[in-house]
Amino acid sequence: MSHQTVIVLDFGGQYNQLIARRVRECNVYCEVHPYNMPLEKIKEFAPIGIIFTGGPNSVYEETSPHVDEEVFRLGVPILGICYGCQLMAHTLGGSVTAATDASAREYGKTETYFDTACKLFRNLSEKSITWMSHGDYMERVPEGFSLVAHSDNCPNVAICDEKRDFYGVQFHPEVNHTENGTAMLRNFLYEICHAHGDWTMSDYLKTQIAALREKIGDGKVLLALSGGVDSSVAAALLAQAVGKQLTCVFVDHGLLRKNEGDEVEAAFRQWDINFVRVDAERRFLDKLKDISDPERKRKIIGEEFIRVFEEEAKKIGRVDFLVQGTIYPDVIESGLGNSAVIKSHHNVGGLPDYVDFREIIEPLRLLFKDETRQLGRELGLPEYLVMRQPFPGPGLAIRVIGDITKEKLDTLRDADAIFREECAKAGEDKKLNQYFAVLTNMRSVGVQGDGRTYDYTLALRAVTTTDFMTADWARIPYDVLDRISVRIVNEVPHINRIVYDITSKPPATIEWE
Ligand code: XMP
Repeated sequence: MSHQTVIVLDFGGQYNQLIARRVRECNVYCEVHPYNMPLEKIKEFAPIGIIFTGGPNSVYEETSPHVDEEVFRLGVPILGICYGCQLMAHTLGGSVTAATDASAREYGKTETYFDTACKLFRNLSEKSITWMSHGDYMERVPEGFSLVAHSDNCPNVAICDEKRDFYGVQFHPEVNHTENGTAMLRNFLYEICHAHGDWTMSDYLKTQIAALREKIGDGKVLLALSGGVDSSVAAALLAQAVGKQLTCVFVDHGLLRKNEGDEVEAAFRQWDINFVRVDAERRFLDKLKDISDPERKRKIIGEEFIRVFEEEAKKIGRVDFLVQGTIYPDVIESGLGNSAVIKSHHNVGGLPDYVDFREIIEPLRLLFKDETRQLGRELGLPEYLVMRQPFPGPGLAIRVIGDITKEKLDTLRDADAIFREECAKAGEDKKLNQYFAVLTNMRSVGVQGDGRTYDYTLALRAVTTTDFMTADWARIPYDVLDRISVRIVNEVPHINRIVYDITSKPPATIEWE
């Protein structure tokens, strides 16, 4: 079954993934492609609609990204957002200039008035808040277009040419701050592009299983299972598709959270697959002995992981397919140029060079995280696996600051389990995107019973974020923090002080190392 597709042309804006997610949330399949995607390629998708994203440039600069003008002659509805709107206006004969008058530049929440006769705003309120972020404005709109929204500062917040189905908005409908943003995107998809809403996870599951069976035939499949959401869902999908032809190798490096190894194993024993759990704790801890530099820890773990995996793969013999749990944000992000290396991430991903196989399969390549979770549910994975918060490949090694010992890891595991348990009891876990304990290498004086102690300080870290690239520290209520603190110092030996990390990212990162 093929899905109706919307193409999102990426002009480099910061919310581009969000646009695609919103479209998918409306049950319409879409893909993000670079703005200069050749027209022929666009046509191959036979898209029902095209969205131009925002971007940091100004359309009147010669070096700014433009589109092939033929895209306006495809007879396909187009929605331009922010830069995308200006580009549409500029290309079709309007004019866009820098807002010299500060009042014409708009940032932040803006009261906006809509013409609800326009299909984009149909059935929505005539006045609502939109999120603006633009320094340029449309001085003259192109012929055939009319103005369909304004704010107190700006007469042309939205334009449309209903004959050709071209729509442009200066604000960002994809961000939550825009009150009816998703409803406007829904209108674009359903009222203008005539979407059927044929993107659902249960359909996707059926299609994928059939496609995987056809591709794999009677071949052998190997998958490195980390216990994270992505690799777990990929494993469950392959298990359903090819059963015994699949071997999952779960490398337990001894750096997992409390009971995590057993939980992962239990979840996967239910499938009729070959499941190998490699107990590699000793190996990893030996390699990490006396190492306190974060980057060295990461490198050592990454390399050792590959070595263990390679050894297991050799035991299995010839492998036809290697499965990777790459998801869509990884695909989009890896296409986005040269950001500075802050931490060298270790993912189960970087394995192919070391194992002899014919082809890589990435069955989640087109799914966002929430879609991946939904697919996991369709496959019957337990909620605790599906909703698992992100956990870094190097595991607790980067949450024990400084050198690592088994004792320190056990201490951290116990404290972290209490933190998570209390957050869940208080219902805080649903508000947090990531939360964990960090064992610092700082010791301080305390008093317990009648005696002096000289023990470790434990830090609690909890953040809210949508993309993990920026994050805010979470406002966990004091009484919850208090319960956590009291329990940890009472129940976990060698910790006599608890601190709560109140730094956002940036300037801090989410993990401490
Ligand atoms: P930072 O600490 O860079 O983390 O703000 C951002 C997100 O990435 C996770 N993280 C990792 N994930 N391998 C992973 O698979 C890694 O090496 C790694 N290091 C950090 C981190 O937990 C957070 O969700």
